[in-house]
Amino acid sequence: MATDERWYDDAVFYAVDVEAFADGNGDGVGDFPGLIDRLDHLDALGVDCVWLLPFYPSPNRDNGYDVADYYGVDDRHGTLGDFVAFVRAADRLGIRVLVDLVVNHTSDQHPWFRRAREDPDSPYRDYYVWVDDPPEWPDPDRGPVFPGEEDTVWSYDEAAEAFYYHRFYHFQPDLNVANPDVRAEIRNVMDFWLRLGVDGFRVDAATLMIDNKGGLESTRLDDPHGVIRDLRRFVARRGDDAVLLAEADDEPDRLADYFGDGDECNVLLNFLLDAYLVAALAERRADPLRRVLDLLPAIPEEGQWANFLRNYDELNLGRLPTADREAVFEAFAPDEAMGIYGRGIRRRLAPMLGDRDRIELAYSLLFSLPGAPLLVYGDEIGMGEDLSLPGRDAVRTPMQWADEPNGGFSPADADDLVRPVIAGGGYGYEAVNVADQREDPDSLLRWFGRLIRTRHACPAIGTGACEVLDVDDPAVFAHRIAGDDGAVVAVHNLDDSPTAVSIALDGDPTVAFGRDGASVRPADDATDGSERARAWRFDLDGYGYCWVRPD
Ligand code: NOJ
Repeated sequence: MATDERWYDDAVFYAVDVEAFADGNGDGVGDFPGLIDRLDHLDALGVDCVWLLPFYPSPNRDNGYDVADYYGVDDRHGTLGDFVAFVRAADRLGIRVLVDLVVNHTSDQHPWFRRAREDPDSPYRDYYVWVDDPPEWPDPDRGPVFPGEEDTVWSYDEAAEAFYYHRFYHFQPDLNVANPDVRAEIRNVMDFWLRLGVDGFRVDAATLMIDNKGGLESTRLDDPHGVIRDLRRFVARRGDDAVLLAEADDEPDRLADYFGDGDECNVLLNFLLDAYLVAALAERRADPLRRVLDLLPAIPEEGQWANFLRNYDELNLGRLPTADREAVFEAFAPDEAMGIYGRGIRRRLAPMLGDRDRIELAYSLLFSLPGAPLLVYGDEIGMGEDLSLPGRDAVRTPMQWADEPNGGFSPADADDLVRPVIAGGGYGYEAVNVADQREDPDSLLRWFGRLIRTRHACPAIGTGACEVLDVDDPAVFAHRIAGDDGAVVAVHNLDDSPTAVSIALDGDPTVAFGRDGASVRPADDATDGSERARAWRFDLDGYGYCWVRPD
């Protein structure tokens, strides 16, 4: 792949869980041969970069985020050779590959932890965080990340005769990144995958990784962000234009720190925007979106946001003000079973919004906002969730490829599948699948193809300056992004009633993207020629949207 240091500014990212994507060997579990066979789908869609969720050897008690070996591919997903074949095949199509770097913690089955617990004198003991007596009640900011599933962050280990620290599940002991040997191990891991050709890493739990683990003196980092700077320096040195895309779901006023002076993360997953964008959809008004654009910090020239609506975890509403959070729960998770951890929603976007027009509105808006968009597999066909599955598995059902047994995901017996495929009803594979949508020019999949092509044709969105425009209707969000590559004005109606708004534009606008029926014409109140060139009327259906190039 040619070197292009800022490739991520305009990339469309696509998250793939290998185990749920495509089963190539018929054992019921997705694998790299299956993924290779389906790369044509990503290519046709216009995806620029695939982010692979963990596929490493793992007891798989947290969807692979409990890594037992950083240097391999779990047998269920194929071999390292298959992985290399995948990277090569993706590269041939111009698709970049990011892998998950899960180094806040390991699995308790990782050899480091096994040795650490068995031998207090082992050098691996200090790879983890131990105490003889855990604090009575941990710091409220350092409680379990999965309330209801874990009730402590200190678990006792019989062999070690001590308590170890874990912010996530008890089977995911936290690594002590204050230990320089752990940092050296992390560099080795990165080096390994960079040499196999990856384009960078999605850094799992970056916020917790650099936290003062357990609040102990021994884990306090003098310069927490120095950890990330080291990772970045290493990646830049060894990986050409490889990048760090981080999961940093932190307080708004701390987010900019993860970009550093352009010397930390290249891209941050934009959790804050996600929550407020969903609030705007739920409340059918632009205000939450205006607020979040004010809340988001300015970021360095080299940095970028990865904007998304849903991922494969819960939709986290924890950072929303109470009124917005309640509005989202009421609109999108009316049943208790749809909520999780007291802060989130375990649903996919399509059933949350229900209406095809509203789904288009939501993604059109997402793709028009400053940053680079990210989709999770299945979004492009409007897959649903399976609330009968435990916890976050509800949104991790297998990809629906065709109206064939198991949705074309696997030829295995349905009982042997990694998770059941959604069947029947409005979101089952019979009704929602790639093959049918590929044939149908009006399908959501084909619409996504057009959206992505339009996004690629409007690079100003990735790098330009964004200005929110004043319009008369509170349900309408209008913004203008202007950069070296021209300008884009996008207008979105968050409500289901048709509306019209008037916006002053410098040039004669041409429509770049929009729902049929979206139109722009000189505003009625413009009388003479010079005014006609400035005031433009946008007519929008309910949930209508329109992107124009003003010059
Ligand atoms: C964040 C991942 O997105 C989530 O799925 C996982 O459970 C935690 N990190 C722990 O690794």
